[in-house]
Amino acid sequence: MEIIRTVELMKQYSRQAKLDGNTIGFVATMGYLHTGHMSLVKQARSECDKVVVSVFVNPVQFGPDEDLGKYPRDIKHDEVMLEEFGTDVLFVPDDDQMYPDGYSTYVQVEGIVASVLCGASRPGHFRGVTTVVAKLFNIVDPDISYFGQKDAQQAIIIEKMVKDLNMATKVRVMPVVRDEDGLAMSSRNKYLSSSQRHRALNIFCSLEKAKSLILKDVRNIDEIKKEMKMILVGAGNLSIDYIEILDAKDLGSIDKIKGDVLVAVAVHVDRVRLIDNLLVSCKNTRAQEHKSTCDMCS
Ligand code: PAJ
Repeated sequence: MEIIRTVELMKQYSRQAKLDGNTIGFVATMGYLHTGHMSLVKQARSECDKVVVSVFVNPVQFGPDEDLGKYPRDIKHDEVMLEEFGTDVLFVPDDDQMYPDGYSTYVQVEGIVASVLCGASRPGHFRGVTTVVAKLFNIVDPDISYFGQKDAQQAIIIEKMVKDLNMATKVRVMPVVRDEDGLAMSSRNKYLSSSQRHRALNIFCSLEKAKSLILKDVRNIDEIKKEMKMILVGAGNLSIDYIEILDAKDLGSIDKIKGDVLVAVAVHVDRVRLIDNLLVSCKNTRAQEHKSTCDMCS
């Protein structure tokens, strides 16, 4: 695996790889890699000739009171994992490479997709994400880019940016990877003590509850949210940032459950903020049988 630290060398690599007739698969990350990230790398490996993974903790997507300074990092561990999964290039630019003195250009997707959910609770966050991802796309020039459904809103916003700005890359969104107990994998899980982690399991439990109600033909959104709140606050003692049930395609609000919906949750486990979501299709619910995979609520 080649490790590239400068924008110029990364661009050179991609230019040459393309001249040689290779396709490039790209996974953007902030490092502290886990099996969720690796599911994207695996998919890239299976579809593309060259796999490029970036590790860059992007300062412009963190708010002033957020965890930029203590965001977990372990580049040696990341290198070992990436090597193991057959990555061709690890791109690790530093802040000066990405945002040299005088940097002043930002990319922002406007509208509902970017203003609901995390857009409301983390002002400026998605502007930072789209700015860095647009830059990475320009530098790496991928044929296919891989993102996780774990960050459902981020994936939708990036798809919108790619479409609106006529970017060349295809975007693939891969399913949420969970630990066996249902907790969605996240670099931020490192912040949790074992008792906090146990409380955090109620996030998945609440999502599974929502799914089971929808599949039992409950169509009233407030009723579903109320049940979810009982699990999150009552059982988990979690503080809710948001519980939302939205149109899965464009994150538009809906007055009752219909079509494909995204059930999305953001909570604080004490000072740690976690997000998770479940896509539920309520077409033909009678034909679907829902077996909860959550140990705590089944
Ligand atoms: P990061 O949180 O490191 O995530 C990198 C990619 O891995 C994202 O596409 C994310 O959705 C995906 N991912 C994380 N956990 C996952 C899980 N449990 N299952 C499936 N996919 C998972 O998201 C970012 O970094 C940044 O915002 C970034 C896009 C790199 C821009 O800075």
